[in-house]
Amino acid sequence: EETGKGEFDHYMLKEITEQPTSIAQATEGRYDSRTGAVSFETVPDGTFSDVDRVVLVACGTSYHAARYGEISLRRAGIDAVALLANEYGVAAPPVDERTLVVAVTQSGETADTLDALRRAGESDATTLAVTNVIGSSAARDADHRLFIRAGPEIGVAATKTFSSQAILLTMLARRIADETAGTRSPPAKADVAEARSSSVADRWSDLDRLPSLVADLLETSSAESIARRYRDDRAYFFIGRGLGYPVALEGALKFKEITYEHAEGFAAGELKHGPLALVTPETPVVTVFTGTEDAQTLKNAEEAATRGAPIVAVCPDGHPALDVADAHLRIPDVDPTLSGILATVQLQLLSYHAASLLERAIDKPRNLAKSVTVE
Ligand code: G6P
Repeated sequence: EETGKGEFDHYMLKEITEQPTSIAQATEGRYDSRTGAVSFETVPDGTFSDVDRVVLVACGTSYHAARYGEISLRRAGIDAVALLANEYGVAAPPVDERTLVVAVTQSGETADTLDALRRAGESDATTLAVTNVIGSSAARDADHRLFIRAGPEIGVAATKTFSSQAILLTMLARRIADETAGTRSPPAKADVAEARSSSVADRWSDLDRLPSLVADLLETSSAESIARRYRDDRAYFFIGRGLGYPVALEGALKFKEITYEHAEGFAAGELKHGPLALVTPETPVVTVFTGTEDAQTLKNAEEAATRGAPIVAVCPDGHPALDVADAHLRIPDVDPTLSGILATVQLQLLSYHAASLLERAIDKPRNLAKSVTVE
């Protein structure tokens, strides 16, 4: 196992660094950059034509990818909800033959997710597994399967599988929207505005560039010096809005998993409804700007800055947030659907370097397992 790390001290850093390749593999041959059409080799055309509701079930990092997918689906005009798989059985939402239940699971072996998939399979819903492992239980148990093609992930903290899951779910949203076009009511005004500001063609041309944008980001990231600067702080908060919210949740999960420091993710707008009581000069607030409703998110960062918290802005160069920020994790200015993925890579690096400075067992954090096969 040791030799598999190559030049890297940890599998986690190796896997973060592999993302230009894993992202290219996730998308290869699956979309047409000219027309925006998405096709999946394992899912026949027309499979989703009757879908009117999508329920995503997942745990841990995969749950955050599911939340990312939920927002992409809703923005495409599709009714969608992401649920923790371990809560699914407690109060499962109503499903019928027009419901698609999507199990998002890197390993395909997480007991809670398999249980939710089994329950969904016993109903009239159609089931789909989004997984990294061909031949996994989830891939076998679901009606359909989509492979994220990320390659093996050894580090317990999921990294490259998150980005691939988020991209695949974004593409799935497009595919379902195309197959159900004409059967849905018109999208809300806000979605129309967004569609105008970023056409499908722009989005997919940014997707073409994503592997090289991630490669640039890996080369130029200031995550290590930022981790050093805030290494002695008391707690670390991550906030974001829209797609930036699941990115913030994932940023905080990664941080707590491998540093053992207190880290929490909040919806930026919720900060003032409680979490602000925790904000002090010793709690850096990492604020994710994904290019939608950034003005509101900036107000939330200002609320934290007023309480003396250092603000780490995850945003493009020239962004207004840099006027309040104490530190900058730079992301390129791309389609909002994809900027969350680039922001996630920066947050993975931040957690990695923070844990490295603290000399934590990065690849095998205490008490955690790569795959939890018990309920
Ligand atoms: C464990 C791992 C997490 C992972 C979660 C879900 O808790 O430590 O990193 O996100 O399981 O795993 P899955 O294989 O279902 O994506």
